[in-house]
Amino acid sequence: MDVEAQKRAAAERALEFVQPGMRLGLGTGSTAAHFVAVLGERVRAGLEVIAVPTSEATRSQAERLGIALTTLDDTPQLDVTVDGADEIAPDLTLIKGGGGALLREKIVASASTRMVVIADQSKWVEVLGRFPLPIEIVPFGATVTQRAVEAAAAAAGCRGPAVLRKTASGHPFVTDGGHWLLDARLQRIGDPRDLAGRLAAVPGVVEHGLFIALARTAIVAGPAGVRVVERP
Ligand code: A5P
Repeated sequence: MDVEAQKRAAAERALEFVQPGMRLGLGTGSTAAHFVAVLGERVRAGLEVIAVPTSEATRSQAERLGIALTTLDDTPQLDVTVDGADEIAPDLTLIKGGGGALLREKIVASASTRMVVIADQSKWVEVLGRFPLPIEIVPFGATVTQRAVEAAAAAAGCRGPAVLRKTASGHPFVTDGGHWLLDARLQRIGDPRDLAGRLAAVPGVVEHGLFIALARTAIVAGPAGVRVVERP
């Protein structure tokens, strides 16, 4: 199985968590897009569900596939959210936000009874941090926030630059919420809870990509097959 086939296999297995009538959260990214695609096939075959997308990209895909959509304001409690991740640790703590949608992803996951994370095997790590940690910030005073983020990370034992994410044309990447993103190159996050608390306390930080105690189930696909891991 190549990587795309692994993502697809994880997405297909996630359908086992979907029952008729459920209220779903739809994640963002290339792996989540596989899930939206296979869900769309089920909907075309008659499955009735209603879903909240975590990004405008996912909204467009779901609309094209005829998946009924709602908002968190109309449907504040969801049954299952299926989303990808940039890194998954053995306790199912995640790094998310590589695709820039971490804020809506975290709000939607928090409103869900179960978050199922789907991934190819490359996302499974012993310790988080090799993937740069995305941190969503308000544009006002971004340099001050950037310095404060680096200081907060250093206080949590993670030294490394927090770099403003830019588009190919050199402009700041703007999230669906109108914010900017820092990518903190920390290499190793020894204590994600400590770091999360310190980042959340920085004025100007809207949200960070550490997802702690949110994912209940991980579906990880590798060349040898798919394994399902429940949070300990
Ligand atoms: C989107 O903001 C992210 O959280 C994605 O879920 C994450 O980056 C994984 O994306 P891929 O499935 O494309 O690797």
